[in-house]
Amino acid sequence: MKTRARFSSLGFVVAAAGSAIGLGNIWKFPYITYANDGGSFVIVYLIAIALIGLPIMLAEILVGRRTQQSPVTAFLHFAKDVPGGKVWSGVGYLGVATGLVILSYYAVVAGWTVYYFGKCLSWSFGGFSDEIAANLGSDFGAFLGNGPVQILFHGLFMAVTVGVVASGIKGGIERVTKLLMPILMTILLLLCIVSVFSPGFGEAIRFLFHVGPIHTEAILEAVGHAFFTLSLGMGALITYGSYLGKEQSIPRDAFLITLLDTVIALMACVVMFSIIFAVPAAERAGTFTKSATILFTTLPRMFYDLPGGVIIAPVFYLLVAFAALTSTISLLEVVASFFIDKLGWGRKKAALVAGSTIFGFGVLAALSLGANSALTNWAPFGQRDAGVFGVLDYFASNWMLPVGGLMTALFVGWVLDAKLTRAELEEGHGAFKFFGLWRFLLRFVCPVAICWIIVAVIGGRAFN
Ligand code: PFF
Repeated sequence: MKTRARFSSLGFVVAAAGSAIGLGNIWKFPYITYANDGGSFVIVYLIAIALIGLPIMLAEILVGRRTQQSPVTAFLHFAKDVPGGKVWSGVGYLGVATGLVILSYYAVVAGWTVYYFGKCLSWSFGGFSDEIAANLGSDFGAFLGNGPVQILFHGLFMAVTVGVVASGIKGGIERVTKLLMPILMTILLLLCIVSVFSPGFGEAIRFLFHVGPIHTEAILEAVGHAFFTLSLGMGALITYGSYLGKEQSIPRDAFLITLLDTVIALMACVVMFSIIFAVPAAERAGTFTKSATILFTTLPRMFYDLPGGVIIAPVFYLLVAFAALTSTISLLEVVASFFIDKLGWGRKKAALVAGSTIFGFGVLAALSLGANSALTNWAPFGQRDAGVFGVLDYFASNWMLPVGGLMTALFVGWVLDAKLTRAELEEGHGAFKFFGLWRFLLRFVCPVAICWIIVAVIGGRAFN
């Protein structure tokens, strides 16, 4: 029998942190924090990460390492010993489908970061005029509506992702994440240091940590984002956990991954808000919208207003592209490892077939931003989530991730034997002091919180 590939000791933490740290941290978290008025939202988010995210992360890694299998075959591994048997493999299939859906539109946005990296390079060398600044919004709209360009950058990003996954766990995923993650952290740290000198820094910190009223909506959004940002609910960490050695401590690694993800999200907020708050309030109100596209429509102008902006701007988009790549790799690995573990395919073929299929779906998403009117106007869930892009995002964030997370929590908390879960968490770690607390959170707190989200979604709430 072939022995399973293994991450080296630090390789797992770096790769899993790479999966967690992505567009969700640098793009989505700052704008939902801004939209929810900072402060209290951040506190609620931190609580959601600790009480819901971390316990489910432990559960996913545990299942992966125990079975040494990716999600579908991992759940099948337990089939003969648990009530429900093979039915639980449905959770694995859901994970594979979720990976496919998320990567289809995630790689489109990732492509934008590469495009804007190139744009910034040209602005930095060729000059960033007032006219360019005035047209950022309309240029972004035109870019979205340009089908061939959207497909090109989406395809480029998918090709690189396929290349990395096809090169294997150690030679591909571990090597690339070990190279990119330190660069990403260094860039972000430098940007943070630059932010300290920005006139907006003080207000940014105040905004981020002030305590104000909190709305139910914000709590729901924080819990929903906890899943997305930690790559939970679709078996990405089951998959990565299946390449983890028995001598490694799961509790320690999960804690480190969660900590890194959270610190990076907060650092991204400091950088973004320092830039945003450097603009006088009156001006800001008119130009800075709460919309998700500020990264491309507003931020470039703010960058070029800063001293050193010609360097900061391209470096920033490079950072976002790197962060996205270490996440797209893990999304593709979930789908590819299904073909490898369940169907016995070779890695290269699996990566190529999975990547091409996802590229195909992504083309539909890429053309639904204005290029094709039928795809753009398709709205099975209402106008708010119109277009293939919006529909995929709505479906993945609102249904697929929460349901996947709920099922994983129920399976590990209620179906798997406590002796087994304890043994796995203690292997390579020693006595796990928080086992009782972890199991309580997984059995009661996580399911209740997730059901609350699902009920809210049924009631018409949408998180994306
Ligand atoms: N955690 C990633 C982010 O915050 O951008 C997104 C993601 C990656 C979600 C991998 C799910 C996943 F399996």
